[in-house]
Amino acid sequence: MCVVSYLHAPPPYWLYAAGLIFKMVIFMKNPAQPLGRPAHSLPIRIMHWVNVYALGCMMFSGWEIYNASPDLPFLFPQWATLGGWLGGALAWHLSAAWLLVINGVAYVLYGIFSGHFKRNLQPPSPGAFLSDMRAAICLRLPHKIGHYNAVQRLFYGGVICILAIEVLTGLSIWKPVQFGGLVSLFGGFVLARNIHLAMMILIVGFIVVHLALVAIVPRTLVSMFKSVPSDQQEAHDA
Ligand code: HEM
Repeated sequence: MCVVSYLHAPPPYWLYAAGLIFKMVIFMKNPAQPLGRPAHSLPIRIMHWVNVYALGCMMFSGWEIYNASPDLPFLFPQWATLGGWLGGALAWHLSAAWLLVINGVAYVLYGIFSGHFKRNLQPPSPGAFLSDMRAAICLRLPHKIGHYNAVQRLFYGGVICILAIEVLTGLSIWKPVQFGGLVSLFGGFVLARNIHLAMMILIVGFIVVHLALVAIVPRTLVSMFKSVPSDQQEAHDA
């Protein structure tokens, strides 16, 4: 048991936090030029992939935790779980949660202070959303690298809010006494746990659609790995 729990021990994340702060300070001192800016800045690319890693650890370990006490009539297959046993899964889940939260706070601060949210992720008007959605369904929505259409803006903004609810409900069921106010906000422990599960299902749904869209326009994937210039945008840059 000791060997198993040692093998399943999650890695320390403090080095990552220090590295990220260092890179953000360097980037803020040398921001990208407004003209010819990269499709995705370096901090966004780093934080996106760290988020993918942290969320992957959280999801697979979360499924192991769920399996130990399922409240729906199904279990997740063993191959899709992380941690090896309940204790190992909890260690992964809580440790990756720190990474997710540190990364998420860094992303929100960067999004606000660099102008990324204002420039790229402003909530679209219902009209713009409906017209882009219609074009997307007919496969006639052009994709410009470095510019998010109305559907993407709603989709990305939505998943950021869902992730925030996931973290808050997670805090409620982790320390229900210390976070008693949060537990009441979510209607009690049982409801908080069910909301936590429901948000997880929405996140999985987001990932499926997100990956399908990336597969349709694979060059977006290149732009999430390395610095490539944004496509030209005729009217404005929002
Ligand atoms: C292996 C899995 C993933 C791949 C391959 C991937 C790929 C990408 C790519 C290529 C983009 C840029 C899209 C574009 O330029 O039009 C992007 C953006 C984004 N992705 Fe992912 N993604 C993955 C997982 C996730 C997950 C798990 C989440 C969160 C639940 C997520 C959230 C986002 C968000 C919020 C953006 C916009 C980021 C910003 O500009 O601030 N992605 N992703």
